[in-house]
This record gives sequence, structure tokens and C-alpha cells, in this order.
Amino acid sequence: MRFDIITVLPDLLQSPFAHSILQRAQTKGIAEIVVHSLRDYSTNKQRSVDDYPYGGGSGMVMSIEPFALCIEALKSERVYDEVIFMTPDGTTLNQTIANELSGKGNVIILCGHYKGIDQRIRDIYVTREISIGDYVLSGGELPAAVLVDAIVRLIPGVLNDETSALSDSFQGGLLDAPVYTRPADWRGHQIPDILLSGHEQKISDWRHEQAVERTRRLRPDMLED
Ligand code: ADE
Repeated sequence: MRFDIITVLPDLLQSPFAHSILQRAQTKGIAEIVVHSLRDYSTNKQRSVDDYPYGGGSGMVMSIEPFALCIEALKSERVYDEVIFMTPDGTTLNQTIANELSGKGNVIILCGHYKGIDQRIRDIYVTREISIGDYVLSGGELPAAVLVDAIVRLIPGVLNDETSALSDSFQGGLLDAPVYTRPADWRGHQIPDILLSGHEQKISDWRHEQAVERTRRLRPDMLED
């Protein structure tokens, strides 16, 4: 799966993809993440990518031309399944959306800034608008990194058995059961006896009960359906 991320702050997106699972996915050739600087597609000497809003008002609006040129250059190279715009007024990201997107081929992700982007970019090019939550960040870069991380770890072959996404919180409609590692007794704080029993079925039942109890206590909304 290939991600082309278009941003005015490409430096901000150098580090998030250079570690751990996301790095491994790229080394294995399962995911390709390419960051494009929107300013490279500016049509003026100042390399500006924004302008004053029609009708007045505060803040600058990102112009259509640089986004259009970048998207069209990418589309002339390969076919894209989605052009996603990261915005607080999009659909809130959840595990179902991440699962669905992990089955796609190539996607373009647009990061907004300032007051927003010219509505015509959304009308003409964008196929999906995604928010990472009901709060406003300074730009779409961190949300884009969150989205890519949530998707990439679900692509088959990225995680091994030990780190399998199948046991992630949310994946089975429940939060995860608590986990423990050595020592079994830390300053008098013991781990649950059942985990030392060696009884696989009982441990599995206990984990399920814990997951249900935790979900009921912390996220009762997840059990409503
Ligand atoms: N850009 C700014 N805030 C955002 C959010 N919460 N989700 C997605 N994109 C954003």
C-alpha cells in the first residue's frame, strides 16, 4: 500500500514513519510512505500556497492550484483509491475505518493548515474526509501520521504473531484484558494467580471476562450494539 502525503511541513513528517512497526513495514516493502512538499507546486516566486479569503474574514485559505498540480502529477503516475483530507469536520476515525482503508491500494492524504483549504479542492478531488477527534490541531500532519499508523499495522504481513493486531483493543469490539510481565511480585503487588496456572483455557476465559468487565466499566458505549 502506498501513501502520498501532501503538506506544507514535510519535515514534521520525517520522524513518525522512521521507527518501529512503520519503519519495518516500509523495509519489508509492504508500505510505501512518500511525503510531498506543497510549496514545490506553488506557481509563484514566493512559493506561497495560501491567499486571503473571498468575502473577507480572518485567516488565510490554502489555494487550489498547488494541491491540484501535486494531485494531478501523482495521478498521472498511478491509480489512487482515495484522496483523503484530514479535517476536524470529517468522519471521526475508528477501527472500522482503519480496517477498511487497510484493504486499499494507493491513497493520497492532504494536510490542511490556516483557516482551511479552498472548498473546490474538497469538491473536485477529495473522496473522503477524516477527523481524528473533536479537537482542533494546528494542521493535518499529526492526524495524517495517526491515520497512516492505524492503517499500516493492519496490512497483512506487517505484524507478526506476537504483535498481532487481532488482539488489539477495539478489534474484537472489546478493550484489551490487562497484561503483566516479570516479576510476578513487585514490592508486594502480585499478578493474578490464574496467569501462573499454566491452564490455557482458563487463562483465555479469564482474559475474556476481564476484557468484558473493562469495556463495561471504561467504555459502556461499545457494548450498546
Ligand atoms: N486538522 C486539525 N485538527 C484536526 C483533527 N482533529 N482531525 C483531523 N485533521 C485535523
